[in-house]
Amino acid sequence: MRTTTPSRTRLGLAGALAALLMGAGLATGPAAQAKEKPPTLAELAQRHGRYFGSATDNPELTDGAYTALLGSQFDMITPGNGMKWYATEPEQGVFDWTNGDEIVNLARKNHQRVRAHTLVWHSQLPNWLTSRDWTPDELRAVLKKHITTEVRHYRGKVYSWDVVNEAFNEDGTYRETIWYKTLGPGYIADALRWAHQADPHAKLYLNDYNIEGTGPKSDAYYRLAQDLEAQGVPLDGIGFQAHLALQYGYPSTLEDNLRRFSRLGLDTALTEVDVRMQLPATDEKLAQQATWYRDLTKACLAVRRCVGVTVWDYTDKYSWIPAVFPGEGAALPWDEQLRPKPAYFALREALGGK
Ligand code: XIL
Repeated sequence: MRTTTPSRTRLGLAGALAALLMGAGLATGPAAQAKEKPPTLAELAQRHGRYFGSATDNPELTDGAYTALLGSQFDMITPGNGMKWYATEPEQGVFDWTNGDEIVNLARKNHQRVRAHTLVWHSQLPNWLTSRDWTPDELRAVLKKHITTEVRHYRGKVYSWDVVNEAFNEDGTYRETIWYKTLGPGYIADALRWAHQADPHAKLYLNDYNIEGTGPKSDAYYRLAQDLEAQGVPLDGIGFQAHLALQYGYPSTLEDNLRRFSRLGLDTALTEVDVRMQLPATDEKLAQQATWYRDLTKACLAVRRCVGVTVWDYTDKYSWIPAVFPGEGAALPWDEQLRPKPAYFALREALGGK
């Protein structure tokens, strides 16, 4: 499998030197005046050879205060919806890149990379696809065309693809999706091969939730990764969504789990981090949330091939949680007024900033 050298895109050599000197308390010409401006999460992560990312979504890009932080604190961007099937192929064979392109172009303008999300999933599929039956041959052709067309369109413009999203049930059996039911488990290897053909340089990931700690679902990925490797299927990494909730406890085996995937020669990443809580948020819950953000970041830094952390948007103003988990929220490091929460300061601390 391929190896990664995350590039230090935002700092450059001079910037890195200035940051180092500043970190050591030494003033460096014009940078001295900028001393009160603390390094961003991205800059702190880059000191460890990692990225720090955020998801975003098209409707919120008209919010100037929001885009200012999005463009400065992060060096990796994930489109929250814009690259999903319903958005990109709303009618069979008719492709729409409007939303995905808007985010890729914004990221490029801000010198950020893109984790592209997602090609094969059971959710947010267009009606034309879910409202009829397909023969295996028909569905295979539909899937191949979708993957090939979308990955080609973004070829050279994205760092990675979440090729298959959420393929397993909690007990480690395959999720009975349209893909699994019609094509059998081989759809995963096929999808990876087609994606690799369409963009040989993009890092290809499998991505899921509730696999942060060891357990049957995470074990299913471990076995699948071994199988795929044995078959020579192009797989670069496993994405751990990390949609955590205070009431379910912290996944204390996270670091060990990341490490066992590293030992298979795979990259790992925390791809959709949020830490939700039952509302109302209290100082105590926010403090606990901060500890979790610190610990999950430290877990990634402790594992060589954990390449970065992405939050599933950065402000409670645009979090998906309240709409999907009624009564829960306050899951992100910035509050609804875009003010940093204890979790933000905990992230900085975990990344070695002050
Ligand atoms: C979510 C988006 O954030 C929402 O806007 C949308 O309504 C539903 O999907 N796991 C994933 C993401 O892989 O694609 C989901 O994103 C959150 C859960």
